[in-house]
Amino acid sequence: DDSTLLNIPEQLAKYEDIHLHKGSVKFMPPIRSMECRDDDIFVTSYPKCGTTWMQAIVWLVTSDPDTSSTIMSNSSASLDELVPMLEWPLQKSDFNDLKGSPDVGLRDWNKMASPRLMKTHIPFHLLSPDITKQRKTPKIVYISRNPKDMCVSDHKFLSGFSCWSASEHMYLEMSFEKYLENWFDGIVSFGDYFTHNMEFWERRDWDNILFVKYEDLLQDPHREVTRVARFLGKDLSSERIHQITQETMFSRMKQNNVLNNSHWKTIHQRETPFHRKGKCGNWKKHFTVAQSERMDALYKQRFAGKCGDWKKHF
Ligand code: A3P
Repeated sequence: DDSTLLNIPEQLAKYEDIHLHKGSVKFMPPIRSMECRDDDIFVTSYPKCGTTWMQAIVWLVTSDPDTSSTIMSNSSASLDELVPMLEWPLQKSDFNDLKGSPDVGLRDWNKMASPRLMKTHIPFHLLSPDITKQRKTPKIVYISRNPKDMCVSDHKFLSGFSCWSASEHMYLEMSFEKYLENWFDGIVSFGDYFTHNMEFWERRDWDNILFVKYEDLLQDPHREVTRVARFLGKDLSSERIHQITQETMFSRMKQNNVLNNSHWKTIHQRETPFHRKGKCGNWKKHFTVAQSERMDALYKQRFAGKCGDWKKHF
């Protein structure tokens, strides 16, 4: 019933050439003028492409094994604090106070201890010049995922929010069909998926950018975690890499309260909205043939000849 559908643009605001959730817009000026440190590390992605997974990997790769294992077994910390998000800088404690829109204050990034690990979905061209001007630092790990699984994941994610104030209601009752229509029209947070991916893909040979595919990480986590470690200048033993792949495997991450962001359940119906299926190809259960063909055509048109072997993406 289309009359019950909420209108996405009401939740979004235009910022420069993209849409953002209204709550994020106020964080953009400080993000754009952010001063980076040489040892900063950013986990970047389009939403629902495996960001949380990569946050956990990057945190474990760069942490002392004893310290991280103590944190994971005892601490009330969360990935939101270990690798905070620039444009949605909530901390675990903020969630208890959330009545409506998350109108939290600005995190003071200058106070974060080095090396700072941070996460963002902001497209490359809207990041600070300290990032966009090519140099050797800060390091950026980009994780990409095929757009069909990404869309299914995002639709499920957005459908789960249940307790925002009326004016900030998320996308309740939004059919997948309607979601996709908006997605194809670019009326989604963080702008167009293809542009977002291409901006990082085209810079994948920069010394400070590593481009990782979710599907490759699923297929061979040992190889991909090794790539991440080398890129971050960490010479880890094969045993340690193995341990990290075990700790970040879907079933283990989902159970671990530090790695699963389970405090999101206060604003989301699911225990951990960041761990749903964790597979490649779930889109086949949700896309119609027509929707799939439309995506294929667009994918071909936007990535053709530019992105190498992207068919592996599925
Ligand atoms: P699904 O909804 O398809 O299951 P993000 O962290 O960018 O929001 O992405 C969330 C997606 O990554 C979800 O996809 C989630 O299940 C998946 N994911 C999270 N941790 C994972 C892991 N350890 N292994 C595989 N997939 C994972």
